[in-house]
Amino acid sequence: MTTDLRHLLTRTADIALRYLETSGERPVARGVSLEHLVAALGGPLPAGPTDSAQVIESLARGADVGLVVTNAGRYFGFVEGGVVPAALAADWLTSAWDQNPAFFALSPAGAAAEEVCRGWLCELFGLPETSSAGFTTGAQMANFAGLAVGVRHVLTAAGWDVEADGLFGAPEITVVVGEERHATVDRALRLLGFGKRHITAVAADDQGRMLAAALRDALGDGPVIVCAQAGNVNTGAFDPLREICGIAHQHGAWVHVDGAFGLWAAATPSLRHLVDGVGLADSWATDAHKWLNVPYDCGIVLCAHPGSHQAAMTLSAAYLTRTGSRDGTDWTPESSRRARAFAVWAALRSLGRTGVGNLVERCCAQARRFAEILSANDQVAILNDVVLNQVLVRIADDDERTRAVAAAVQASGVAWLSTTVRQGKTALRISVCDHATDDANIAAAAQAVLRAVAGNL
Ligand SMILES: Cc1ncc(COP(=O)(O)O)c(C=O)c1O
Repeated sequence: MTTDLRHLLTRTADIALRYLETSGERPVARGVSLEHLVAALGGPLPAGPTDSAQVIESLARGADVGLVVTNAGRYFGFVEGGVVPAALAADWLTSAWDQNPAFFALSPAGAAAEEVCRGWLCELFGLPETSSAGFTTGAQMANFAGLAVGVRHVLTAAGWDVEADGLFGAPEITVVVGEERHATVDRALRLLGFGKRHITAVAADDQGRMLAAALRDALGDGPVIVCAQAGNVNTGAFDPLREICGIAHQHGAWVHVDGAFGLWAAATPSLRHLVDGVGLADSWATDAHKWLNVPYDCGIVLCAHPGSHQAAMTLSAAYLTRTGSRDGTDWTPESSRRARAFAVWAALRSLGRTGVGNLVERCCAQARRFAEILSANDQVAILNDVVLNQVLVRIADDDERTRAVAAAVQASGVAWLSTTVRQGKTALRISVCDHATDDANIAAAAQAVLRAVAGNL
């Protein structure tokens, strides 16, 4: 190492601070090409060592125009959280500590953070207190894990030994999903060996909520997995979880809930009714990198059947030291991984129950405010019931005008939002998920949209 470590990390902290302190004034995103960034960061593979401080300076310089400012209050794309300070600082420590929570022996502290967060999250979400938890890259892998456990559980109940006999020749599983499930559910099922023809999609209402009455008709006689949703990625709507769990469990089905962001509604009394019955499900997927505002990456899978969870995920080898304590690899499809729970622990510890609730409520209030400001314009229509943090906006009842407004807002750098297509209509898609989003951010972003509608942005 050529640079003094203290100098290197202090210099890096300065660069990070400069970024964070000025991020509110930066364009949220810039129209920059991959080629430009590759040229800035590229060149031939260095033949030999470079001083570490110089490396960091060139990374900061080369990456700068390609950074999308997701944590300064004016980013409304996809469903991206910002970063709360304690989680950011814990994430730095996580890298400095370089812990691998796959096995207790590798990181007793990492295992303890996971165990503490497991308990806190069960309490926050109103899930059975003995539920197990695994810390994954994101909700994609959390959905994968929850559904994989479901597959094992329903086949075991049908007398099939999955570990010995795998899935070939197994009793056919009916997998029932809502018409508007998230795309990651399909990918998880595909990776688990379920093709499109194996998946039954139940009709949804105008907000994208699964119709529980239609679910009843979709359940077959054999093993069944039902995948419900808490928080539709477009509308923010919630499937009727209590009803779904009731119907599904009458058939002995496994219920998995994709609550990538919506599960956080459970954290506040004012929104908890949206997830009524959620604790009756068998497994849940959520993200901490969305609404808890921890740095990427961090998803969480929770399961009401720890025995099935562990049996479906575990691995063994003679060299892997088991201590009989918590081994993180038993709860995720991953082996070595980042000790993500330190940042989750720090976010939960710094916010507390009321802080998480306030964060969620504030984002929802800002989403309503965004919708209110826009809807005063007669060319604007709000397409969804703004029950959570998602707002769908259509301009002049016209796909092209709507796409043009999104493009103009993106190019302005004032805010970033994208489009979606719902029920055949293009809409601006606004997601408020950043703790830093305040009234001024909403006013600036809404004005940018309205100027784009008027054609003068
Ligand atoms: C409902 C839902 N499920 C799953 C996901 C996937 O989450 P991730 O990208 O963290 O894997 C998302 C992402 O927005 C989502 O909204």
